[in-house]
Amino acid sequence: MVGIAREVFGDALPVAERYAAFLADAGVERGLIGPREVDRLWERHLINCAVVSEAVPEGAHVVDIGSGAGLPGVVLAIVRPDLRITLLEPLLRRTTFLSECVEMLDLGNVEVRRGRAEDVADDYAVDVATARAVAPLERLATWALPLLRPGGELLALKGERAAVELDEAQPVLKRFGVATTELLQVGRGRVDPPTTLVRVVAGRGGVVERQQRAPRRAKRSRKRSS
Ligand SMILES: C[S@@+](CC[C@H](N)C(=O)[O-])C[C@H]1O[C@@H](n2cnc3c(N)ncnc32)[C@H](O)[C@@H]1O
Repeated sequence: MVGIAREVFGDALPVAERYAAFLADAGVERGLIGPREVDRLWERHLINCAVVSEAVPEGAHVVDIGSGAGLPGVVLAIVRPDLRITLLEPLLRRTTFLSECVEMLDLGNVEVRRGRAEDVADDYAVDVATARAVAPLERLATWALPLLRPGGELLALKGERAAVELDEAQPVLKRFGVATTELLQVGRGRVDPPTTLVRVVAGRGGVVERQQRAPRRAKRSRKRSS
């Protein structure tokens, strides 16, 4: 595992090691990570999340929905300093943990945002939304697609049910005018099994959904640029 971790994280390995130690210590103590996960932190969590970077375009603004203890968002920030990462998480206990991670690891490319994905769409038009273990794709898509710019993409980390969830989400994806969907595997030869991603690329329909909410948005502060 050490050799693979070195290959995946490269020069950022010492930062990843500090994050792993913080997860194993404060993360477990505060109930963000189960104690049984400690022995498999690298394979099941850090490397499993780091390989998602294979699917993320250079320089993208990424919103990690339901970041929890920072998976995959903190790992992506460590392994890809070219990315701008927003860690989106509704629970204060978790955003506190995330802010401590950002400070301790000196991650200049990360902001922590407390909120629910469905409540903050007016503030974002990002290139990529990631999510792991947050909600079935059918629901996740309704939260993630309004956060994306037209042509932006949702990368949902999914397990064995990826194909079934993609099938079940079809009516919702059609309603949002999604352009394309795809199942892909990343991390071959590095994690076993490889990480399965559902990629959902937003089409113009997503823009229509946003415009329909324009009157409500007019009462709020102006939309931030992504
Ligand atoms: C099972 S945890 C997964 C955390 C992390 N992604 C991981 O893989 O370890 C689900 C997370 O989603 C967050 N969450 C639930 N509903 C959400 C919503 N509507 N918007 C954003 N995050 C949400 C929860 O607070 C929780 O931290």
